[in-house]
Amino acid sequence: MEAEKTAPEAVRPVAAARIDFTAEDRAWIAERIQEVLASGQLTLGRFGADFERAFASLCGTKHAVAVNSGTSALEIILRSLGVAGGEVIVPTNTFFATAAAVVHAGGRPVLADVEPATMSLSAEDTERRLTSKTRGIVVVHIGGVISAEMPALLDLARRKGLWLVEDAAHAHGSIRSGVRAGAFGVAAAFSFYPTKVMTSAEGGMIVTNDAHLDQEARIYRDQGKASFTQNAHTRMGYNWRMSEPHAIIGLRHLQRLPAMIAERQRIAAGYDAALREFSRCRPLAVPNQDGSNYYKYVAFLSQGVDRAAVKRQMKERFQVSLAGEVYDTPLHAQPIFREMSTGGLPVAEDVCARHVCLPVYTGMQEQDVHRVLAGLREIVG
Ligand SMILES: Cc1ncc(COP(=O)(O)O)c(C=O)c1O
Repeated sequence: MEAEKTAPEAVRPVAAARIDFTAEDRAWIAERIQEVLASGQLTLGRFGADFERAFASLCGTKHAVAVNSGTSALEIILRSLGVAGGEVIVPTNTFFATAAAVVHAGGRPVLADVEPATMSLSAEDTERRLTSKTRGIVVVHIGGVISAEMPALLDLARRKGLWLVEDAAHAHGSIRSGVRAGAFGVAAAFSFYPTKVMTSAEGGMIVTNDAHLDQEARIYRDQGKASFTQNAHTRMGYNWRMSEPHAIIGLRHLQRLPAMIAERQRIAAGYDAALREFSRCRPLAVPNQDGSNYYKYVAFLSQGVDRAAVKRQMKERFQVSLAGEVYDTPLHAQPIFREMSTGGLPVAEDVCARHVCLPVYTGMQEQDVHRVLAGLREIVG
């Protein structure tokens, strides 16, 4: 009898990202969704309130307001602060929503350059762009890193009488000098979009220490109603509410956040150690090594290395998908914002074009990390 031929073992592809809900998570979530379905309290209920309390405690802030996206969290903060007719400094290296929220709240985003170490807002370039119309500054913690510019930006805001808002969509649980993301400025916006370090499927959270802002945010998120029980609309609000099933999913992921961050940090430490020896790819110099939640693991390619070719070869030769950049195109180069740009944003143009994001997620296997590094070593080592 002919010996059975064994097919060569297929190489398991390494995904760019993975959304992690264990069997226990799924059971925990399902049980509580059953409970809210039976109760009929499907929105603005006890799980939303629990999620808010637990998230405020994570950030070390007095208040948290759950909403239906990171975008709405930003817009509510900006409306509550009254940006209509004013200018807001926004880094050009960020997601569309950071600047779009300013426009939707009636303000004008002024795009500023970033600093090269962490690709986050530059304090020096921010100061250069202030005018008599500037109301405040939005900082974005790119990839989960709270940059070393934070003290200078806070000082600038204080000196000029401006507020500082954190777009902390990437930075759940990140920390710098003992302060958590969300607790630096007047308020912060988080996103729970599925690719983030923790998710509620869709969702967002506003955190603040300001009791008035907390009240305003609650009014805005529920159609501008001053009270849940009265039909009196006092603000130009919207339906920005978070449903109870979303709050339940978020609450569960929040319980696992410290362990999920620790796992990401372990993977990142392995990348850091290996990349030090590479000649054409160097790790981001994270100043507060342990403080990043590693939403993204960023590495810079040397000048002249073709990023698209690196990504293609990693995929074709090593079955490794690199994650999406943060960001590949600065906002001033986006068609919708081109006209608003006042130019002079060279650092963002450089770093946006030259970085890659290596896969980092919970459940990533040791051999996956090795394959990422083996591929990179051959292509840009
Ligand atoms: C920096 C940044 N700001 C805002 C948002 C908007 O969050 P959401 O998708 O939850 O509306 C995101 C989400 O991708 C983001 O990355």
